Amino acid sequence: MKVLGIESSCDETGVAVYDTAIGGAAGLRAQALYSQIALHADYGGVVPELASRDHVRKLLPLIRQTLAEAGLTTADLDGVAYTAGPGLVGALLVGAGVARSLAWALDVPAIGVHHMEGHLLAPLIEDDAPQPPFVALLVSGGHTQLVAVDAIGRYRLLGETLDDAAGEAFDKTAKLMGLPYPGGPQLAKLAEQGVPGRFKFSRPMTDRPGLDFSFSGLKTQVLLAWQGSDQSEQTRADIARGFEDAVVDTLAIKCERALDATDCDTLIVAGGVGANARLRARLVEMCAARGGRACFPRPALCTDNGAMIAFAGALRLEAGQHEDAAIRAVPRWDM
Ligand code: KG4
Ligand code: ZN
Repeated sequence: MKVLGIESSCDETGVAVYDTAIGGAAGLRAQALYSQIALHADYGGVVPELASRDHVRKLLPLIRQTLAEAGLTTADLDGVAYTAGPGLVGALLVGAGVARSLAWALDVPAIGVHHMEGHLLAPLIEDDAPQPPFVALLVSGGHTQLVAVDAIGRYRLLGETLDDAAGEAFDKTAKLMGLPYPGGPQLAKLAEQGVPGRFKFSRPMTDRPGLDFSFSGLKTQVLLAWQGSDQSEQTRADIARGFEDAVVDTLAIKCERALDATDCDTLIVAGGVGANARLRARLVEMCAARGGRACFPRPALCTDNGAMIAFAGALRLEAGQHEDAAIRAVPRWDM
């Protein structure tokens, strides 16, 4: 089955074609991504109306480009998958409207995909992917969740953040130290120059049982450290390193607990923060030490992309799932 995937939930327009007959990483026939970062940079965050308009501008050219790169035409498509939520409603409606219309015109099924299920399944696009059961750590700008995956489509929430998501904490912390939007990757880059241990921040909620997270207090700790410092470049890097170490440590401690609680030895990690090099190294090490395995998608498939939506949609369509012709956009939606 060749499925076109469309992602437009926030500030990236992502398109891809996944071919289940090929499978694995090679099944990803082509993908294209347009990031709106420059558009929103002056505002320090995503402006929903501008995001919607830019998706309108970019989506059809990206679909044409992706099909051309895959050597396919619309007539080759067996289905269309789109992100139905959660996300910005106007942005979601653009992807949903285009996907539904295209599917109707081609007389193929369309399917709405949960954005976080897209993230969760992204590691399975890669070759040598693990099969459930496993534990998934979902760490994006809007979510931080630990999920027990008993089978594809059978998910149990083990824990989640009570306030800021991990990516949100990265972004807000970067902003308060004057780094440009989007701050997460910039802060991670700066941390590479930082001296470990000069600034030590807490590992929130690791001193009590449970699998929930809380990251909002960390940014206050960083603010106080930053305001009380000489605010030099080196200090900024050292604080960034201290912050990153605190988040990575906290996530690793909770992941290990989740593996213990579920008696699993495989961890998969997905979502934008999964692109963080220090987090990847730490989780690989933690899992290896207990005889298990940590799996990640390549960094480009950690952040928002069309491939994960094409893949998740293809699995659902192959399992025989169908929907009526309604255009679905669900801004708030539990997985
Ligand atoms: O999954 P994603 O692209 O979009 C959402 O669904 O939210 O995740 C974006 C988040 C942002 O908060 C961004 O700062 C963070 O992922 N992020 C990173 C890194 N790359 C992206 N955070 C830390 N280190 C990175 N290398
Ligand atoms: Zn995302």
